[in-house]
Amino acid sequence: MSAAAEVVRRCRELAAISEEDGRLTRPFASAGMARANALVGGWMAQAGLDVRVDAAGNLVGRLAGSDASAGTLLLGSHLDSVRDAGAFDGPLGVLSALACVERLRAQGAALPFAIDVLGFSDEEGLRYGTAYLGSRALAGTFDPALLSLRDAEGVSLGDALRAFGDAPVASASRAGERLLGYCEVHIEQGPVLERRGLPVGVVSAIAGATRADVSFTGRAGHAGTVPMDARRDAACAAAEWVLAVEAAGRGEPGLVATVGVLEARPGAANVVPGGAVASLDVRHADDAVRGAAVAALRARAGAIGAAREVQVAWRTVHDEPAVALDPSLTGALGDAVAGRGLPVARLTSGAGHDAVALSALTATAMLFVRCAGGVSHHPDESVREDDVAVALDVLHAFVMGLAARD
Ligand code: HGY
Ligand code: MN
Ligand code: MN
Repeated sequence: MSAAAEVVRRCRELAAISEEDGRLTRPFASAGMARANALVGGWMAQAGLDVRVDAAGNLVGRLAGSDASAGTLLLGSHLDSVRDAGAFDGPLGVLSALACVERLRAQGAALPFAIDVLGFSDEEGLRYGTAYLGSRALAGTFDPALLSLRDAEGVSLGDALRAFGDAPVASASRAGERLLGYCEVHIEQGPVLERRGLPVGVVSAIAGATRADVSFTGRAGHAGTVPMDARRDAACAAAEWVLAVEAAGRGEPGLVATVGVLEARPGAANVVPGGAVASLDVRHADDAVRGAAVAALRARAGAIGAAREVQVAWRTVHDEPAVALDPSLTGALGDAVAGRGLPVARLTSGAGHDAVALSALTATAMLFVRCAGGVSHHPDESVREDDVAVALDVLHAFVMGLAARD
């Protein structure tokens, strides 16, 4: 089996590890995450790497270098998922990095620097709303206040982490170490490479993102007896606001605005909803445009609530500025693509990635891999083995190029 075929096979094997029957849902610090770490950690150990799980639940597989003073190159991506996820968002990057190290060991390459293959524990933010918990901890930018966040079952982030050991999250930080940079292979999760007929592309920047939880509080009542003109229907207020979110996204070039979670409470067909909760996800390459859109949507929620005598509460749970990836490291990645005889497509990413958090620690670069129809965050996510083979060649050439520079 080719290395690319094995990467795809491993992604699909890993996709069977889930917290939910019949679909892939693997949240931060869950039992499924621990099983995923054990499976991928086993592959890392087979490859001769020293394997550990850090205090933030990140999986780390280390290939030592020949010169301890030469520092460490970080490769990898995330092992957590969204709900009902595809098999490749995250794992493709972790297992491509592992395949690269396996190839280096098979060829007997003695690199001066060490390589850490990383499987981050929380890029999606599914369990606690805020993303990059694992990569922020490794970057040394984790906010301890987040430890008090509670999940839907009331379990605090701090208690969830204790399942991964008692070491303080701060001990996961790599800040201050000599690092050559971080490179992440990831599916594009969009249609550009497919439209341009290219297997891979280099990422120049990652859009900024704001996430918020918005709650609407009116008055519950009997669906059969409360007159329509006497209602304070929280779900209708939320619904009016959801359409305003969509209109904001449609009205501003390059802006995307999404309500992914929407719930009427108490959630009975014959009860006028006294409560409603909605999530908000707004992205744009320009932080000023994103900020203005979020402010306008927050004001609009207030206006809708005032007109309907529904109270509105707003909680920002994630706010990350746009990030430009490192020009020099990205240039080296582009050289590796060109060396493979391919045009060097440069893309901005609408999706967030652990590279956003890692950019606070070291130089970062990303390689996008074409995915069918640009589909992601969906079980139909898929990649072509020949595209993965190209990505593995590029990653290998990128690493060898860094060794030649050293
Ligand atoms: O939501 C995102 O952009 C990423 O998939 N976490
Ligand atoms: Mn991802
Ligand atoms: Mn994702």
